Order: sequence, then structure tokens, then C-alpha cells
Amino acid sequence: MQLSVEIILILVSISCVITIPVPDNTDLARIVNGEPVDIKEVPYQAALRRRVLSGWAHTCGAVIITSRGVLTAAHCVEAFVSQPSLLRVAVGTSSRLTGGKTYDVSVIHSHEGFSTSTLEHDIALLSTSKVMDFGETVAPVSVASEHYVLPDGTGAIVSGFGTTSYEGSSSEVLQAARVSIVSQSVCARAYLRIANIGTGMVCAVGSNPPKDACQGDSGGPLVVRNVLVGIVSWGEGCANANYPGVYTRVSEYSPWIRQKLEVMRTSG
Ligand code: ARG
Repeated sequence: MQLSVEIILILVSISCVITIPVPDNTDLARIVNGEPVDIKEVPYQAALRRRVLSGWAHTCGAVIITSRGVLTAAHCVEAFVSQPSLLRVAVGTSSRLTGGKTYDVSVIHSHEGFSTSTLEHDIALLSTSKVMDFGETVAPVSVASEHYVLPDGTGAIVSGFGTTSYEGSSSEVLQAARVSIVSQSVCARAYLRIANIGTGMVCAVGSNPPKDACQGDSGGPLVVRNVLVGIVSWGEGCANANYPGVYTRVSEYSPWIRQKLEVMRTSG
């Protein structure tokens, strides 16, 4: 009797392990306290989708930087590096799952130093299999160079199709919010007990009401005057006054991006 109860418990726990879906940080949260924007205002915004049984599911944000090059977060593509065909990029649309144009992903360059534990070097460059048609709704943004100076308090725009509250539901339409750059020391102090804010990270907050990126926005753009300065990476909760949003500091990776674009160009 005792034994059969144990067996049942084991079976139940095995079936749980099998049936619980892989934690999916894509449907937990979108830009918090943002406002709807038309894609024409942020034509560099792209969406990364992954193949699922029923079609394609929103996975992350992404950013157009060249006619075949799209940046995103390494944590968004980690599981797909050897299977880029399970991913596609949607551009030129203000809605999360419809409109615009989609392009297959042919190559994924994920940063060699990316760490799932520290979330350092959270950047990846994807190559689309075809050249993207540029226009009013699809256009590249320039990438901050290694010398780019980003003073504390600088205003920036973050955008995406992610959730509108922590563990809330995803936005059907593109949202954007104005945030300001937070000093490295203030951010490091906020996260002291949780994580290290490395030199490859930059933090930003929005206030009155609190504004932030959220789940599903990862990989998306943080832009200052049409220059890409950050990629949505992580945060404790979303729009939590005590915890800034953390972004990959793009200027820090400008040499890496240049090198990968060169590899893309020479390998076709
Ligand atoms: N990791 C999240 C994602 O995969 C992004 C979280 C950003 N969070 C924040 N509070 N800024 O979509």
C-alpha cells in the first residue's frame, strides 16, 4: 500500500515534469505605462517569433540595424542557435502578430560570453535569409559607437509588444515609453543584493507613472535621438520603483557588432 502510494506520487511528479511547459518569459509582461505608437515612429522595431505547433508565437523584440541584420538579446535566441529556422523576424507592423512582412532567420550570432546566470553580454545578431525592403515602416537605426557618451538623465524611448504589467498580458499593439538613463552606481546599489550591474549593462527608469519594459520586450530597442543605446535585457519585476530596467549597453558591443556584420557580409 505504502509502496503503491509512492509509485503514484512518482508517476504524478514525472507527468508534471513532462507536461509543465518550459517556462516562457514571453507572455508575462509588455511595456508598462507606455502608449500605443505607430511603427512609423519606431520603424527599426522588429518582433522575433518562434515556431510553435499552431504557427508562430511572439518571443522577443528585435532591432533592425542593416538590410539583413537584426539585433536582439542573447537570452531570446539561446535555445535556437543551431536551429535558426525555428525563428522568424517580423517588421513593419504595429501589431504583435499580424501585418508587416516576415523574414526567415538564417544565422544566429549569439555573444560568446553570454551567461544565463549573470546575464552579461546579452546580445545577439541575427541574419535574415533575404534582404529586407526598407520604407516608411521598416528602417534601420544607427548603433551607438564605442565612444558614444550617455550622460545620466538622458531621455530615451523603449518600445515593444511585451506585457503591460508584471505577469500581465501582452499588448496586441506596439507600445512605447519615455525613460531616462540611470547612473551606473545608483543602479548597482539598487541591485546590490540581486545581481552585478556590469559595464556591458545600462539602466533606465520612467516615472510618474512608473514606466518600464517588461516580459516580451526583451531584445527590443532603447533609443536616444535615433541612436540605439540599449537592448531590453532584464529587471526585477517591471516598473518597480526600486529596480530600474536593465539593458545591454550597445556602445560596449559596437566592435563585436561590427565584427559579426563583417562575418555576415563575407559568408553571404
Ligand atoms: N527578460 C524580459 C524578457 O525576456 C525583459 C524584462 C525587462 N524587464 C524590465 N523590468 N525592464 O522579455
